[in-house]
Amino acid sequence: MTDVKLKIIDRDGVLHEIDAPTDMNMNLMEVVRSYELAPEGTIGICGGMAMCASCQCYIKSNHELPEMSDDEEAMLSEAFNVKDNSRLGCQLHISEDMDGLEVELAPEEA
Ligand code: FES
Repeated sequence: MTDVKLKIIDRDGVLHEIDAPTDMNMNLMEVVRSYELAPEGTIGICGGMAMCASCQCYIKSNHELPEMSDDEEAMLSEAFNVKDNSRLGCQLHISEDMDGLEVELAPEEA
């Protein structure tokens, strides 16, 4: 299997069901950008370094995801709109374990 199905709710509340490749070393932030689910310049600002939180999303399904790194935890502790299920999309590498994952993009930080 090389693609997983993801459900992504954009910042306008619209649900997108998309296929994401597991074999291209992509992370969730890059997938959102490649499908243009958030306007350019509002997501992935730091380039995926866990330094901006523009890729924050809420995990809506019960998938087991890899533990947060210290960098991700530190960034989320400073970000706005953080919830218990917040993660940084750029720190989530697309893997087969994510098939069926449902996420919602966090609001843009002002
Ligand atoms: S893109 Fe900046 S923290 Fe994810």
